[in-house]
Amino acid sequence: MASPSTAEQYPLSENQFHPIDPQKASIGQLLFYDKVLSGNQNISCSTCHHPKHGGGDGLSLGIGEGGLGLGPERTPGKGAQKIRKRIPRNASALWNLGHKSINVMFHDGRLEISDIYQNGFNSPAQEWLPNGLDTLISAQAIFPLVAQFEMAGNPKENEIAGAIHDRIDAAWPILAKRVRLIPQYGDLFVEAFDNIDVPQNITIVEIAKALVCLY
Ligand code: HEC
Repeated sequence: MASPSTAEQYPLSENQFHPIDPQKASIGQLLFYDKVLSGNQNISCSTCHHPKHGGGDGLSLGIGEGGLGLGPERTPGKGAQKIRKRIPRNASALWNLGHKSINVMFHDGRLEISDIYQNGFNSPAQEWLPNGLDTLISAQAIFPLVAQFEMAGNPKENEIAGAIHDRIDAAWPILAKRVRLIPQYGDLFVEAFDNIDVPQNITIVEIAKALVCLY
């Protein structure tokens, strides 16, 4: 396929992006800053992707769950909670990632659009990726949650980390339950999602869609 000419590519226009749903975006904004999504409830997406730091964390190599503080002042923490190692890669900014041309994510490309597992993506979850993640960016959003040093924590510390130890997809239903048991979230999801009539129906797929603000 011929690539579009520079004149066609720039400036970027709204129809080149997956459409934003304002109602889901308002839930996503809450979740992005909510530590409830981390195993030990001590870190949120925004800790490493903060608007104050250009959408990253202001560090060369990130400090995940167990660390203390925000941005360049973040430290490895103290005592038993102290991080065991830094995130071995730089936390990138998240601008424009809903662009329809993006088909690979993460520095090493470990998530990409592909039919290899008949679920739409080649991902670290292989055939155990939940169904219904219909964009690359929504599939991406569920991986920091199950990364030991980013958000999940270490085995024996919490039920999320323990579940991942069994199999990667065992942790997502536990996280979804945590979110849907918070009445405010339950109500917001029922309002924003046509397929959710009661909070009990909320799964990690709706949480991912809210996080990335898309229809
Ligand atoms: C501990 C810090 C940390 C936390 C918490 C974290 N991230 Fe990240 N994020 C990173 C790092 C580091 C990378 C790059 C990792 C890689 O490529 O392997 C990254 C990559 C990404 C990317 C891919 C960017 C690209 O262009 O490929 C997206 C999207 C993203 N994060 C979204 C999120 C969301 C959503 C959450 C919360 C659910 C989250 N992150 C939580 C550190 C973090």
